[in-house]
Amino acid sequence: EIAGGRRLAGELRVSGAKNSALVLMAASLLTEDPLRLRNVPPLTDIQGMAEILTSLGVSVRRGSDSLEMNGSGLSHSAPPYELVNSLRASFFCIGPLLARLGIARVPLPGGCQIGTRPVVEHVKGLKALGAQVTIEHGVVSAVVPGRGHRLTGGRIHLDCPSVGATETLMMAAALADGETVIENAALEPEVVDLAGLLLAMGAKVRGAGTPTITIVGVQRLHGADYAVIPDRIEAGTFLLAAAITRSCLTVAPVITEHLGAVLTKLEEAGCKLEIDGTSVTISADQISAVDLRTQPFPGFPTDLQAPFMSLLATASGTSVVTENIFENRLQHVAELQRMGAAIRMQGNTAFVEGVSRLSGAPVQGSDLRASAAMVLAGLAADGITTVQGLEFLDRGYADFEGKLNAVGASIRRV
Ligand code: UD1
Repeated sequence: EIAGGRRLAGELRVSGAKNSALVLMAASLLTEDPLRLRNVPPLTDIQGMAEILTSLGVSVRRGSDSLEMNGSGLSHSAPPYELVNSLRASFFCIGPLLARLGIARVPLPGGCQIGTRPVVEHVKGLKALGAQVTIEHGVVSAVVPGRGHRLTGGRIHLDCPSVGATETLMMAAALADGETVIENAALEPEVVDLAGLLLAMGAKVRGAGTPTITIVGVQRLHGADYAVIPDRIEAGTFLLAAAITRSCLTVAPVITEHLGAVLTKLEEAGCKLEIDGTSVTISADQISAVDLRTQPFPGFPTDLQAPFMSLLATASGTSVVTENIFENRLQHVAELQRMGAAIRMQGNTAFVEGVSRLSGAPVQGSDLRASAAMVLAGLAADGITTVQGLEFLDRGYADFEGKLNAVGASIRRV
């Protein structure tokens, strides 16, 4: 429950990146040695991934902001459906399980609120590395035939630069015989973070962050102690919290290259940004309309489309927002309309005509980022906004209301 209309001031700390941490956790399946990750955010998705790893025989110990995983007891190759069903990222297990055990049975992750989310590219790539893959009764079964059950390096051209497929194939290739080349690979910072961890574990990876990633498989990987990058989406959400309340906030730590397109759009909308190393100070007064098109990195991230639309709903002028990545990621439009936003839809494009005031209302967060967008809108709205669907928010934002309240927001979890 958000009492809107308050100015914010102070500094917001950004946690470790959820999407990085989830895939780095799966990499613990690649080694018998202990793997320690630092800067891991306390989120329900992280807890879900820990449960999946535990079900496979990995021991997981949680410290205050760290996780220690030990894959020496890896004994199962099939995470149970109940656990996989609640967490799409669990499909990451298939690559390392195949690489280490030569066998994996992982339920298809299925769709989610934002779209169908196929795993065609993941499967195609695993086949190119020598796995036999069948999909039956909703389960992907993969096995590496032959003696030793080791994958073999190969050349893979992704039809689309899928983040999940790139990461799955990097982990699979790290223990394969010979060289793997992934073409049209995703460029996202989380892919580069995974390459950083794999290198620290003794893998031979080059080209992460470019469209061609080359991996030369090694016999074994060892343990590592590795810090997760800061969450660029959480950071972007905080910058938008300042902009929508026309406030001044400092957000840190931020790797500014990870947020290039977002910082550019904030400046285009009239925000002033001061960058000092890994901290960004943003101040906002007048906000004007800007057009957004979501794209793979380094384009504008789909994960910030909904939160940015909340800001544009309060801008002067009409913004055109086009969602190009996921087919069903504009469900927040109807909820913003309930708060008085003037938005017209045409296919995957929203025409957002800014209004001078949003008005607080009961609203529903339909997915993780839509929930964050609702909280942002509530910060700016007249009166009380009640956001339902906090189970989504808690998947991706650590202590969201605690952090925002510390800089002057008035948010109560009821
Ligand atoms: C990851 C992020 C998610 C983010 C998304 C895009 C994690 C855990 N999640 O999701 O937060 O919104 O990247 O930046 O890291 N596609 C295909 N065929 C495939 C695979 C994907 O057509 O086999 C399409 C998808 O339908 C979608 C696009 O490619 O349109 C991007 O998907 P992908 O990059 O795979 O997203 P995820 O890795 O699932």
